[in-house]
Amino acid sequence: NEIAMVGVPMDLGADRRGVDMGPSAIRYASVKEKLAGLGYRVKDLGNLVVPTPESMDAGENKLKYMREITAVSRELAETTDQVVQSGCFPLILGGDHSIAIGSIAGVARHHKRMGVIWFDAHGDLNTSKTSPSGNIHGMPLAISLGWGHPDLVNIGGVSPKLRPEDVVIIGARQLDEGERTLIREQGIHVFTMHDIDRMGMGPVMEEALQIVTDGTDGVHLSLDLDSLDPVDAPGVGTPVAGGITYRESHLAMEILAETGVLTSAEFVEVNPILDHGNRTAKAAVALIGSVFGEKVL
Ligand code: ARG
Ligand code: MN
Ligand code: MN
Ligand code: MN
Repeated sequence: NEIAMVGVPMDLGADRRGVDMGPSAIRYASVKEKLAGLGYRVKDLGNLVVPTPESMDAGENKLKYMREITAVSRELAETTDQVVQSGCFPLILGGDHSIAIGSIAGVARHHKRMGVIWFDAHGDLNTSKTSPSGNIHGMPLAISLGWGHPDLVNIGGVSPKLRPEDVVIIGARQLDEGERTLIREQGIHVFTMHDIDRMGMGPVMEEALQIVTDGTDGVHLSLDLDSLDPVDAPGVGTPVAGGITYRESHLAMEILAETGVLTSAEFVEVNPILDHGNRTAKAAVALIGSVFGEKVL
């Protein structure tokens, strides 16, 4: 019943300023108060230190800021590892989605086999060979599965951290060609917006839970706010129309809360510069409430 919160003000993976302020925006939207109100003891460990993009060179065009992202990811892996060791639930606040590399590397040490639920408009399954942008926030799921530059893939020890059959992507509506190929070849489970429309979020979550809990001993939630519709979450760097509604997203979190399978979670890609009145951070905090058991009645 103790949650340890870590902010990672990372924007190097998105090559776009503003998302580094995500952790502040989420704190400003009263995340700690929300969780305390639900009866949790909450420790805020503060933010990791992330270098400032203007102070350095992006380096290799196909893997922008890889050196710096590798260094921060290593530190985040140590931090999430320690949080789990201390008996707390790790809640990581982003920051762009490249932070999932470190958070997954850290928590995975505590599981023989970990499932992941990845809410995203995108696949984040690129490597430097398939990426259209060279931005590492489009690569963290591939990296956790063991595909990508060795420096990134080997963060925190053994690789891969995950098996393709233990991963579910929910909300996808913009995949790059190489990602589509990878998904087909590796049999990664993806519930696209089409699937959510057809089946409804309830049944999607039931199937997703079956997949990520089958044979695993832990489940990590990685929620990119761009999985939501830009109407409800406009403050993201790579918005894509036609996303998960506010209500569908809450239903999904409530179902996760009921099953109680989650062992760690992160909320990423909140960019207050692009937001309207902190709406996206507020949505994140509302979702955090639901996933930690908040109910109307
Ligand atoms: N697929 C695109 C890329 O690789 C966009 C990735 C967006 N990822 C994200 N975490 N918002 O550049
Ligand atoms: Mn995304
Ligand atoms: Mn499975
Ligand atoms: Mn993402």
